[in-house]
Amino acid sequence: MRKHKMTRRSFCAAIAGAGMAVATPARAAGPEVLSTEVTELQLAPEGYGPTQAWTYDGQLPGPVLRQPQGSRLVRRLENRLPVPTSIHWHGIRIDNTMDGVAGLTQEAVPPGGQFDYAFDLPDAGTYWYHAHTNSSEQVTRGLAGALIVDEATPPDIDRDEVLLLADWLLNPETGAFQEPFDHPMLRSHGGRFGNLIGTNGRFDFSAEVRQNERIRLRLINGATARIFGLRLEGLTGWTVALDGMPLTEPEPVTGELVLAPAQRIDLIVDVTAGVGETAILLRIDDDESWRAQAFFPVVGASATTRRPAPSALPPNPGMELPNLAEAQVLDMPMAGGAMGGLRSARFEGADLGFRDLVRRGQFWSLAGQVGMAERPFASLSRGATVRMKITNDTAFPHAMHLHGMHFREVRQGGGFGPMRDTVLSLPDQPLDIAFTADNPGKWLFHCHMLDHAASGMTTWIEVV
Ligand code: C2O
Ligand code: CU
Repeated sequence: MRKHKMTRRSFCAAIAGAGMAVATPARAAGPEVLSTEVTELQLAPEGYGPTQAWTYDGQLPGPVLRQPQGSRLVRRLENRLPVPTSIHWHGIRIDNTMDGVAGLTQEAVPPGGQFDYAFDLPDAGTYWYHAHTNSSEQVTRGLAGALIVDEATPPDIDRDEVLLLADWLLNPETGAFQEPFDHPMLRSHGGRFGNLIGTNGRFDFSAEVRQNERIRLRLINGATARIFGLRLEGLTGWTVALDGMPLTEPEPVTGELVLAPAQRIDLIVDVTAGVGETAILLRIDDDESWRAQAFFPVVGASATTRRPAPSALPPNPGMELPNLAEAQVLDMPMAGGAMGGLRSARFEGADLGFRDLVRRGQFWSLAGQVGMAERPFASLSRGATVRMKITNDTAFPHAMHLHGMHFREVRQGGGFGPMRDTVLSLPDQPLDIAFTADNPGKWLFHCHMLDHAASGMTTWIEVV
C-alpha cells in the first residue's frame, strides 16, 4: 500500500551521492510534507469493492513517523482533501499552538492549503497522530498514523512492531464507508463500530517471527468506538509502557489487556510458539469468542534462547507524582446517551431541554455543558495540581482524553496509577485523576469515542 515518492530531499541526496555538481535549486526546499489525500484502497477481502479512504501520504494507516527523544518534529501538512483538516499529535506534551485542534489552537487548513507543524518531542514512547477537524468522520475515513519516539538507549529487543488497530464500517455491497457519519442512533449509543476489524490497514495482518525472538509490540487503538480486549497466544510478555509512559516495573501479561480508543500499550514479548506454529494476538469479538487480530507465523528459531525478564524503560522527564495536598478539585459528571438521564444542559450559551438537544444532534454532557463552550471549563494557574473527579452517569463506557498533559489515577485505597493520557471510564465507577497543570495553553478534555465527542462530550481547560 506504500506509494514510492522521491522527495526533494532524497532526490538531492541521490545527486550528491553521485558526485555531481548541484546547481542551487530555484526554490528553497521546505519542510518534509505530510499530505492528506483521497486514496482508493482494498480494505475489504477480494470480491468486495474498494474503499475511498482519506489518507496521509496515500497510506492507511499513515506512515509511521519515527524520531529520537528530544528531537524536533517538522512536517508541512498539505491538504489535498476536498474538506478542511488539521493534525493532532496525540499524547505529545506539545507546544499548544501545534496541538492541531481546529477552532481552538488553530484554524482548520482549507483544501489546497498548508500548515507547518514544528515541535519538540520531550518524551520517548508510542504516540499517534490523527485528524482533529470533524474527527468523527475524518479518523473514521483513515486519517491516523503512529508516531514513535525512540529512547536514547533502546531496550534489548530483536525487533519493534507497531500495530495500529482499527475497525471500519463498510457497505458490504460497495466496500465504501457506510454513511452517514453522524448517525444519531450510533451517536447516542456506543458509537460507530466497524464490521471489519484490522491491524495496520489489513483485516488479515500477518508478520513472520522467529522462535525466542524478543519483540516490542506497540499497540495503538485507532478505532473510534471499539474497546479491544486482547490476549496473547504463543507469546509471553510484559507491559512496559502505557500511553507512551514507561511503567516503573514491567508487568507480566497474565490475562486480558484492555485497550480503549486512543490508548496505547507497549509490550515486550518473547515468541514461545514453536517453529511451524503461529503466535497470535487475539481479540475478544462481539459474540464473546476470541478471534485473531494479528498473526505471527514462526518461520525459524532465533539464535538467542529465552532471556530473563526485561528491565524497565528509562522514565520520561516530569513523571513525578502530583502533590495532592494542594490540589484544586474539579467535578466532572458525565451524563446523557441512550438510557441516560440527560434532561437539560447548556449548549451554545443557552439552557436547552432534552428534545432541543436531540434536534441539534447532541446527546451527551460534561459537567452540565454540551460541546465546546466559549469559556474554558476551568482556568488553572501554571504549576497547579488538579484533581478531576469523573462520575459516569451514563450507560456506556467512555475513553476520556486530556490534551497536552498526562495524568494519574488516584487509587481509592491510596497511591497512584500509571501516567496516561486516556482513561477508560465505566458506568457507575467513579474515577479520580490528578495532574500537574504544567503546560500552558488551551487543552481539550473529551471522549475518544469520537461520535460522543461530536455530540456533546468535548470540553476544554486553560492553563495560564
Ligand atoms: Cu486523540 Cu482530541 O484527540
Ligand atoms: Cu464516550
